[in-house]
Amino acid sequence: MKTLSCTENYHGHALSRKRLFIATFGCQMNEYDSQRMAQILQKDYRLTIAPEEADVILINTCSIREKPENKVYSLVGRYRRLKNKRPDLIIGVGGCVAQQEGQRILDRMPYVDLVFGPQAIYRLPKMLRDLSRDKSTRICATPMENDFEIPSPEAPLPNPGTVRTFVTIMQGCDNFCTYCIVPFVRGRETSRPPGAILEEIRQVVSEGVKEVTLLGQNVNSYGKKNVNFPDFAGLLRLADGIDGLRRLRFTTSHPKDLSDALINCFGRLETLCEHLHLPVQSGSSRVLKRMNRHYDRDGYLDKVERLRKACPEISLTTDLIVGFPGESERDFQDTLSLLKIVEYDQIFAFKYSPRPGTRAAEFDDQIEEEEKSRRLAEVLDLQKKIGFKRFKALENTIQEVLIESVDQAGLKGRTRGNHVVHLEGNKNLVGKLIRIRIDRAGNHSLRGSTI
Ligand code: SAH
Ligand code: SF4
Ligand code: F3S
Repeated sequence: MKTLSCTENYHGHALSRKRLFIATFGCQMNEYDSQRMAQILQKDYRLTIAPEEADVILINTCSIREKPENKVYSLVGRYRRLKNKRPDLIIGVGGCVAQQEGQRILDRMPYVDLVFGPQAIYRLPKMLRDLSRDKSTRICATPMENDFEIPSPEAPLPNPGTVRTFVTIMQGCDNFCTYCIVPFVRGRETSRPPGAILEEIRQVVSEGVKEVTLLGQNVNSYGKKNVNFPDFAGLLRLADGIDGLRRLRFTTSHPKDLSDALINCFGRLETLCEHLHLPVQSGSSRVLKRMNRHYDRDGYLDKVERLRKACPEISLTTDLIVGFPGESERDFQDTLSLLKIVEYDQIFAFKYSPRPGTRAAEFDDQIEEEEKSRRLAEVLDLQKKIGFKRFKALENTIQEVLIESVDQAGLKGRTRGNHVVHLEGNKNLVGKLIRIRIDRAGNHSLRGSTI
């Protein structure tokens, strides 16, 4: 869970503003949405990191796997006690669990006042006003419009001094991978007009942001439904030309739509960082077919080869699922062997979790929990060695690092390859791009020093 915090930003109404606590689960889409909620409500609410002093608590939920979903319910349950002490407290449940469960959340949890889906966040000011006015009101807002457009932000970022941020370029997903809940809770794929995207990037850059990550469930299919829009490589070229933007990243890329035009952007566009998150999900063509991924093992490996040819220093990361229904030991070994071939810098591996309403949840060859755990442990163990080898290769190299934050342990930043670097130095370096010597590799981060 992440808590959205902020230093005082908005100068009007400082004393009269109420306090808002936002807890965020799930992917970067949700992080972006939480930031937008804080922006939209900035006039009347200031953020707090302490739920016990909040007037409004919003929980932005995720239903991608069973674990985050259960965490959400136990957290909402905890806030019930706060409401017993302060009956005026408004509790809202948003995000993907809200979209999926809707009214059922209100029925199950009488202390929840508001349920709102991802498309309803822009109605929050009005909904919260209505709830404050009449204590007996309860609202369920889970609209799902296919042509929904994200409005442009009217307020600055909630946290001044933000160095890197997200900009959503498309919503929803049409891919229907058989394990995945996203198409059901986020609706059909819709691209945001390029003008709105570029304007938002310009705005955050004018507020001091140096690095922007473009967001979508499948950014490679950006603009495919709109004849007047550029394709994704074209959009990257436009964003690359924005004055003051120093670094550009994007996520997530579906391998089936990774074009040569996009591959060739790496190493050519100045701001585009040499890192690609390319979720493979499985190393077995048989499993990939049952997942409805529309590529096979060889097709994926071929794209990796082309990427490395276009940009030899690119760092690759991936998502994968172990214990998908019917995954045999042989299929699993194919995943392990793919990891050895590709040598990712980092992986995010998950045990398959059946999601209600998805096709794979109905497959009758589900794998035992114990076996999923064994496979997960094996995958992570292998990747630990591979990741360490990749990190070790960076020792004694000079890297450009964007310093993001400072705490008691020192400065923290990232290389263009997205490796976390810790170093000592002056806090004035936050927001600066500096050249760093990498002294030592750890399992998940690097230690460096200024040169
Ligand atoms: N749009 C992205 C993925 C978004 S979900 C893509 O297609 O790559 C993030 C990750 O969660 C997925 O890549 C997948 O590895 C994992 N995931 C999704 N559904 C899952 C499920 N039912 N069980 C386990 N992991 C799942
Ligand atoms: Fe889910 Fe597949 Fe869409 Fe990604 S591409 S969000 S995994 S359905
Ligand atoms: Fe979770 Fe919704 Fe993202 S289900 S992963 S928060 S799109």
